[in-house]
Amino acid sequence: MAPTGNRQLIQWISHWQEILSPDQIHWCDGSEAEYDRLASELVKVGTFKRLNDDLRENSYLALSDPADVARVEDRTYIATTDPGDAGPTNNWCDPDDLKAKMLALYTGAMQGRTMYVVPFSMGPLGSPIAHIGVQLTDSPYVVVNMRTMTRMGQAVLDSLGDDPFVPCVHSVGFPLSEGIQDVPWPCDADNKYISHFPETREIWSYGSGYGGNALLGKKCFALRIASTMARDGGWLAEHMLILGITPPNGEKHYIAAAFPSACGKTNMAMLVPTLPGWTVETVGDDIAWMKFGKDGRLYAINPEAGFFGVAPGTSLKTNANAMKTLWGNCIYTNVATTSDGDVWWEGMTDESPDELTDWRGEHWTPDSDTRAAHPNARFTAPASQCPSIAPEWEDPDGVPISAILFGGRRATNVPLVTEARSWEHGVFLGSIMSSEKTAAAAGTVGQVRFDPFAMLPFVGYNIGDYFAHWLEMGLSTNSVDLPRMYWVNWFRKDTNGDFMWPGFGDNVRILKWVLERIDGTGEAVAKATGLVPAPNSIDRDGLGLSDGDMAALLAVDNDAWQSEADLIEQHYARIGDKLPEELRNQLSDLRRRLTA
Ligand code: GTP
Ligand code: SPV
Ligand code: MN
Repeated sequence: MAPTGNRQLIQWISHWQEILSPDQIHWCDGSEAEYDRLASELVKVGTFKRLNDDLRENSYLALSDPADVARVEDRTYIATTDPGDAGPTNNWCDPDDLKAKMLALYTGAMQGRTMYVVPFSMGPLGSPIAHIGVQLTDSPYVVVNMRTMTRMGQAVLDSLGDDPFVPCVHSVGFPLSEGIQDVPWPCDADNKYISHFPETREIWSYGSGYGGNALLGKKCFALRIASTMARDGGWLAEHMLILGITPPNGEKHYIAAAFPSACGKTNMAMLVPTLPGWTVETVGDDIAWMKFGKDGRLYAINPEAGFFGVAPGTSLKTNANAMKTLWGNCIYTNVATTSDGDVWWEGMTDESPDELTDWRGEHWTPDSDTRAAHPNARFTAPASQCPSIAPEWEDPDGVPISAILFGGRRATNVPLVTEARSWEHGVFLGSIMSSEKTAAAAGTVGQVRFDPFAMLPFVGYNIGDYFAHWLEMGLSTNSVDLPRMYWVNWFRKDTNGDFMWPGFGDNVRILKWVLERIDGTGEAVAKATGLVPAPNSIDRDGLGLSDGDMAALLAVDNDAWQSEADLIEQHYARIGDKLPEELRNQLSDLRRRLTA
C-alpha cells in the first residue's frame, strides 16, 4: 500500500508505471537502513566499491561510463509553448513534440528494474520557503545521492499531505529486457534529454545518471524550475554560495556569491581566513533561494542538504573544511583509488601515490599521461559534517545578505574586485559576466563565454526577462537595505600564465574590503568599469605581493575594455528586444567612461 493518501501522487505514479514498465516499485523512506541496503546492492552489481572503513568510514566509490561524466548543456531543454519564453540562451523545444519524443524512449525503459519513488524537500522540511518534489528513478545510485543532497523520504510525504508537488521523472535509459545484462553504470549515452516544462512545472530526464542531469532536485528543480517560480513569486533562485563572516569586531555579516560551475563556490563557502581574528562559516555551497523579509532585507536559504563538490584541487591546503567533511558517509564519483582503499585526486597531495586505480578502473602511475581522477570527479557529502557549517544553516527564515559577489575565470581584463555603483549597475555587471568553460559541463574547456549571473545554463526562462526581474527586485526595498554588489576575479594571470592572486583563504582579504565598504571605512577609486580598491586598501599583511602586483591585479585597461564593450554589445544583441533599457543605458555609460 502507498505510504501516502495524496491522490494526485498515487495517480501520477500509476500513470508512469504503465509507461515505464518497471518490475517493481519501491517508495523510499529515507532511512539509514534503506541507504545501507541500497548501497550494498550497488556493491553487489559493481556500481559501488566500498572504501576502506578505517580510512573513509561508510563511504563508496562509483566510476561512471566515460560517456556520462558531466552536465550536458546541449541536451538540456526548456520546453515552452512560445519559444520566446525560453529565450535565446536556452535550447527550446515545443512541449508536445518533446514529450512525444521522450515518451517513445520512456516506454518500457524500466523493464527489469525497480522504480524508486523519491519524495524530497528543497529547503528544511516544513519551512514556508521549502518546496517539495517527487522523483521517479530507476537508479539506486541516484537514490542514495538524493538522500545526502536533499531532505528525502517518508517525512517529506507526511509534510506534503495532499498538496501539489513538482513531478520529476528520471530513467537512465537502459532497460533490462530479455537477455540484456546490466552494467555497473547504465545510461543511454547517445540519447540524453534533460527536459524542463516550466508552464506545468515538470522535469523529465532520460539517458544520464550523472550529477545535475540525474539528481533532479539540484539544477533542474532548485534552479531551472525554481527560477520561473521565483520570477512569478517575486524572489530569486540563484547559483550562489552563502557564507557567514565574522570580523574581529564580532559583527557578523552574510555574503552570497555567484560563480560559474567549478569556479570556486565550494571553496569560498568553506574559506579558512588567513587573516587572524576572522571567521567564515558555511551556509550553502551551490544554490541560494532569496526573498525580501519584513524588515526589508534580502534573506537567503540553502535549499540543499549536502555538497556535490568538485574533488580535483581539493586539499588540506586549499579547502581544509571540505577535506574534514569527507571523513565518512560520502559517495565519490570518478576519483582515483589507492591500493589501500582510499580516494585520491589531482591536487589532493603534493605528490601523487606511486600507483593508483584511475577513474576508468585502470592501473595508473605518475608516469601515465592521463589524469587519475576525472576533472569533474565529485564527492557527495552531508553538509552537517562540515566543520565550518553555520549553526543557523537550516534556519527556515534564512540569513540576511549584506553583499552579493559575481565572479568568473578571466585570465585578463577583469580586476580582482570591483564594487558596483548601484543595484542597477550591479545587475549590469552580473549580466556581462563571462568565464572560461570548465569540466563541469561536457564540451570545450577554457573557452571564454558570457555566463550572466553564473546562470547561463540554469535560467528556466528568457534571459532578458531574468535581467528585468533582477532590476525589479531592486525596487522591492529601500536602497540602504539592498545588498551591495561586487564583481570579483581570482583567476587573473600574469604574462607567464600564472595566477596573480593566491586565492582560497586569502580571498578573505577581499571580503574584508567589502565589509569596510559597507561600514564606510573602505576606500575606493572610480574606474570606467566601477569602483576598485584604492592603493593599499586591500590588507596585504603577510602576503608578499608588491605595490606593482596589486596595481596589476586591480588594473582596468580602457583600450582592452573597448574590445570587451564590443563583445558585450554582441552579447546584448543576441538577447534582443527583451534586454531591459536600463542595461542598454549602462553599456552606453560604460562606453562614455572608457573614452572620457
Ligand atoms: P560547482 O560545484 O561546479 O558549481 O563549482 P564551484 O563553484 O563550487 O567550484 P569549486 O569551489 O569546487 O572550485 C572548482 C575549482 O576551482 C577547484 O579546482 C579549485 O581548486 C579552484 N579554485 C577555487 N577557488 C580558487 C581560488 O581562489 N583561486 C584559484 N586559483 N583556484 C580556485
Ligand atoms: C555544476 O555543474 O554547477 C554543479 C554540478 O554544481 S551538477 O550538480 O552536476 O550540476
Ligand atoms: Mn553548481
